[in-house]
Amino acid sequence: MNVIETYNLCKYYKEKRAVDNLNLGVPEGVIFGYLGPNGAGKTTTIRLLLNLAKPTSGYAVVLGENITKSRKYLKKVGFLPDVPNFYNYFTAREYLELLSEIIKVDKKRVDEVLEIVGLKSEKKRIGTFSRGMKQRLGIAQALLSDPQILILDEPASALDPQGRKEVLDLIASLRGEKTVFFSTHILSDVERICDRVGILKEGKLILNDTIDNLKKRFSKRILHIEVNNPQKLFEKLKKENWIESISFSDKNALLIRVKEIQRAQREIPRIIVEEDILIDRFEFLEPTLEDIFFEVIS
Ligand SMILES: Nc1ncnc2c1ncn2[C@@H]1O[C@H](COP(=O)(O)OP(=O)(O)OP(=O)(O)O)[C@@H](O)[C@H]1O
Ligand SMILES: [Mg+2]
Repeated sequence: MNVIETYNLCKYYKEKRAVDNLNLGVPEGVIFGYLGPNGAGKTTTIRLLLNLAKPTSGYAVVLGENITKSRKYLKKVGFLPDVPNFYNYFTAREYLELLSEIIKVDKKRVDEVLEIVGLKSEKKRIGTFSRGMKQRLGIAQALLSDPQILILDEPASALDPQGRKEVLDLIASLRGEKTVFFSTHILSDVERICDRVGILKEGKLILNDTIDNLKKRFSKRILHIEVNNPQKLFEKLKKENWIESISFSDKNALLIRVKEIQRAQREIPRIIVEEDILIDRFEFLEPTLEDIFFEVIS
């Protein structure tokens, strides 16, 4: 079941198509990476889903409710904005206890969420927190009402590698319990923890699939070959029209992007034998999300 579905969702600011005919489905329980460069329309999509902005046209269904007709679903959605604001002179616990009163949640839940985000024994004021700690507190705040869906706008993008790891590990730990929709412009973050990815470019969704499917779809396109005379092989292969690109990856190795897999499997060994080249390695590489991303973008 999809917990989020959008139908030709559009948001225009004058001529600017911030979100353009978006048709997106997010299945229950997945970690969904919403990937796109600056200005692609990620925050705008999130604002639409949260009823913070009105669609120019189209609509979305969240947890079975049409968001243009109802706001009840918002009770079951937790949100972390891209630039969260806290009361700096509070401790994490004080801050969450205040929120729990406002949204009428049992104080016991504060303990639970502090535990989940690893801030349970943290006594310092929020003002002295690192950015990573603040993001984790932001996730705690989003989890407070025990929502079904968490929407996180660039939760890890502004963090250093250690902070990113903490936040991504935390998001990964929610797998299976919550549906997490998070935006990012960092490919490796998606690759690390997401089950599915949607890639957004200039307001348009250009790809939407599981990471596994993508890797299968684009697998066996990149070939890694190690031989005793790579220069000779390079000269032979560069003229072939079934090869897309070829480059040296290190002293004895070639990285070859092929258009026709079977042809590569047949022809390359033949050329190697004909040219009396000695082979050390012949391997199709698993594509990274980065390989796929650049292939799709171009
Ligand atoms: N309130 C607004 N008025 C006019 N234009 C806007 C408004 N909000 C967003 N835009 C434009 O819509 C486009 C998409 O913006 P959005 O903030 O959704 O992108 P984003 O993917 O979140 O980018 P970033 O990675 O920088 O956060 C941008 O060109 C932006 O300038
Ligand atoms: Mg944004």
